Amino acid sequence: MDTGKKRILTGDRTTGKLHLGHYVGSLKSRVELQDAYDTFILLADIQALTTHFENPQLLNESIFDVAIDNLSVGLDPNKVTIVQQSAVKSIAEMTIFYSMLVSVNVLRHNPTIKTEAKQYGYSDMSYGFLGYPVSQTADITFCNADLVPVGEDQLPHIELSRRIVRKFNGMYGTSIVEPQAKLSEVSRLAGLDGNAKMGKSLGNAVYLSDTAKEVDQKVRKAVTDPARVTVDIPGTPEICNVGKYHKIFTPDECDNIWEMCRTAKIGCVACKKKLTNSLNTLLDPMREKRAYYEAHMDEVKDIIVSGTKKASAIGDAQVETMRQAMHLTI
Ligand code: TRP
Repeated sequence: MDTGKKRILTGDRTTGKLHLGHYVGSLKSRVELQDAYDTFILLADIQALTTHFENPQLLNESIFDVAIDNLSVGLDPNKVTIVQQSAVKSIAEMTIFYSMLVSVNVLRHNPTIKTEAKQYGYSDMSYGFLGYPVSQTADITFCNADLVPVGEDQLPHIELSRRIVRKFNGMYGTSIVEPQAKLSEVSRLAGLDGNAKMGKSLGNAVYLSDTAKEVDQKVRKAVTDPARVTVDIPGTPEICNVGKYHKIFTPDECDNIWEMCRTAKIGCVACKKKLTNSLNTLLDPMREKRAYYEAHMDEVKDIIVSGTKKASAIGDAQVETMRQAMHLTI
């Protein structure tokens, strides 16, 4: 059914549960935009394979974890289409077509690929990993998505997608939509441990599925302003991890908290307690929705199966148009 609305496609690798970094970087805007856009959420199990091909069991479980994470933040299954990437065959076919239009050098110089390769310790990357931005272009364009809400690390990929689409359209006379990235206000969340990024593989993540107690324990361990050895020393909230989190998660009270920190009227323990409260206030309604879906796994499966079916039909039509434009039909 064509709703006449513009389309969003975005997704997550199915390599484990999603965390607060995913929430501020993309999930929050997905929820805000779900009424205005025809939204597709991809459970990116093929992209997960590019780094976790030796652990298919994890990927399988994560398909459900990631689907439930998306549903728990407030995406409405009656509005959005949740899709299992590997089951949409047209994505694989489009990836092959697009792969002719991208040079190996361009992929090798992609800054996100470089950072991730280092993070995973690849001295020699697989062809599949190096090429995942090409597959991601197929993800975005099988349904002619207009907008892609993502964190800042994904910008090089969206730029590549635009280049590929432009080249394809120019060469074959098609009119595949050139996608645009939509950066959220907070496009990168630092770790509470002081690492520049919150990440699953960095061991510093606060998961959307964490219990209130787990959140409390993680916040207690957060690294604060190192100069503030005792409570009576005034702090510098702008360089403090907890201070930065208040800006994002306690926006209304943040000025006040920062002022109390600067004047040594609040200590780190009390300040952390406030942050734990803010995070749990955000996460509590998600926990409720999660509990519902975890008790109704058949419903979750149906949501994925029907979304994938819908996406497959759209993708098949797109591939057919491309095959014709490329003179591949006989
Ligand atoms: N690369 C994205 C990430 O690591 C996940 C992803 C896969 C994606 N396919 C996508 C994002 C398509 C946006 C659009 O988070």
